Amino acid sequence: MARRKKIYEGKAKTLYEGPEPGTIVQYFKDDATAFNAEKKDVIEGKGVLNNLLSEYFMKGLGQIGVPTHFLKRLNMREQLVRSCEIIPLEVIVRNYAAGSMSKRLGIDEGTQLPRPIVEYCYKDDALGDPLVTEEHIAAFGWASQQDMDDILSLALRVNDFMSGVMLAVGIRLVDFKIEIGRVYDGDFQRLVVADEISPDSCRLWDIETGQKLDKDVFRRDLGSLTDAYSEVARRLGVMPNNP
Ligand code: C5P
Repeated sequence: MARRKKIYEGKAKTLYEGPEPGTIVQYFKDDATAFNAEKKDVIEGKGVLNNLLSEYFMKGLGQIGVPTHFLKRLNMREQLVRSCEIIPLEVIVRNYAAGSMSKRLGIDEGTQLPRPIVEYCYKDDALGDPLVTEEHIAAFGWASQQDMDDILSLALRVNDFMSGVMLAVGIRLVDFKIEIGRVYDGDFQRLVVADEISPDSCRLWDIETGQKLDKDVFRRDLGSLTDAYSEVARRLGVMPNNP
């Protein structure tokens, strides 16, 4: 393989300079981390599953007119994406209480929320991605009011799409996190869904049994993460042996 310029190495992915200007190659690693990297492991095959699943979700979003950074999958571990400027926010959408929201507000995990709730966290590993309000976002200039309107609309469209896709295969979309990037077309800025959408960044529960099919399996030592992600892929017809 030709040597490529590494742009950034994150916890689950490495980014390389792409073949054309304005493109990036996203390499999905097998590394799993939780609790801000206090818990770490290598889960063989996770990168392949997340690459395929993220491709599936991003393509589907593109088909319904939700802009994403995805261009094409290159191989089992890599995809070509548009280079974008990531807004330093983790945008979380919740349909049911779970995880940090249950802890923070004392609501039982699995409680259906009266409507989807969107939360923003400031993307900063050293600070543990703290929850922030739109006041912080505006005051510190991380995003404009127009950006926030667009981000909310994107987040809710992703939620509708993902909830429907998962419901069709008997899985409840409890919550998820997305990241948003800015791409520039001449003088115009567009916001796109960036990073990845995979069981690493969603909570997915089997509707019948409540079985967790997401990264909580790793966070909470509930069994095989590969089995859980493979089950999601199998139900969606996205399998490594079926590229
Ligand atoms: O931990 P918490 O309950 O806030 O997570 C909400 C959702 O966002 C979960 O689906 C989790 O997997 C995802 N998330 C993420 N990356 C983070 C924090 C949360 O993908 N850094």
